[in-house]
Amino acid sequence: MGVISHDQRSGEKPDRNLALELVRVTEAAALAAARWVGKGEKESADGAAVDAMRLLLDTVPMAGTVVIGEGEKDEAPMLYNGEEIGDGSPPEVDIAVDPLEGTTLCARGMPSALSVIALSERGTMFDPGPCVYMEKIAGNSEIADCLSLTEPLAEVVARVAERKGKSVGDVTIIMLDRPRHERAVAEVRELGARIRLISDGDVSAALFAVSADAGVDLLWGIGGTPEGVLSAAAIKCLGGQLLGRLWPRDDAERQAALDGGYDLDEILDVDRLVSGQDVFFAATGVTDGELLEGVRYRRGGKASTESLVMRSRSNTVRTVSARHDQAKLREVTGGRYG
Ligand code: FBP
Repeated sequence: MGVISHDQRSGEKPDRNLALELVRVTEAAALAAARWVGKGEKESADGAAVDAMRLLLDTVPMAGTVVIGEGEKDEAPMLYNGEEIGDGSPPEVDIAVDPLEGTTLCARGMPSALSVIALSERGTMFDPGPCVYMEKIAGNSEIADCLSLTEPLAEVVARVAERKGKSVGDVTIIMLDRPRHERAVAEVRELGARIRLISDGDVSAALFAVSADAGVDLLWGIGGTPEGVLSAAAIKCLGGQLLGRLWPRDDAERQAALDGGYDLDEILDVDRLVSGQDVFFAATGVTDGELLEGVRYRRGGKASTESLVMRSRSNTVRTVSARHDQAKLREVTGGRYG
């Protein structure tokens, strides 16, 4: 049975919104990771987030398969690709997780580290196989049809400027600051458009790019494929478009992808990256960012979190603020976080 029930298809009544359950999962991961903010230990921060996320995921009644997880079984003890999560009861879903998106951001106490999860009907999430990176371009629905990965970036930027009724010099492109982007940076600067370089976190960047008031017109660049799938899930809830194309790092990865049947020229849009029609997304801030406030510690042993909770079928976007009692959390989780 899929996530969508018969009653829902006929529009008779709304059903369970899994995103409201998933927010507890990302809150837990964020609270656990927040203990490691600024401590310079990104593996410990990630490990704590994974552990807390796994603990809470087990409380969600579902038959989930991790499609985008922490890696292959032999390298990831939990949330590995292919792991079955939940109690096996319906709905049957695919799961994408990034318990700590921006491990370095968290370790260095920099803005915009998040905990992220997305769910969609079983068999509807793109599995990137051996491909670690993907070229991506994203923008809001007004410019969705202007996006392209096959034409020069300069032409796309010019089209976006025209569509948005502004000059090329007023267009802002957000990009990961990486040597592999040097040529594109030079091209965009030559054109006179503005660039906002970020050190990490292209899920946040994709959300900015599709948001009306974030001051960013486009996301462009080569980033993680897991982040591409997670961004696509979010964009299916928010509106907008992301195009991706697998970007093998070397000949061995290219060959592995070809052997696995991947078409390296295929342009993957949000409906190809997450083809389901009932997609759930939740993200909680770990460190403060423009998208979400991070975990804050308050008087009297309380902590607060802020999360984004969304569903594609209804396009409902919620911001959920929560207060947590750290001592009680430690008690009920056996000290796993709090
Ligand atoms: P991590 O949380 O795994 O450190 O990923 C952060 C990130 O910046 C992603 O947002 C981005 O997609 C990816 O790394 C880019 O990879 P790389 O740092 O190898 O260029």
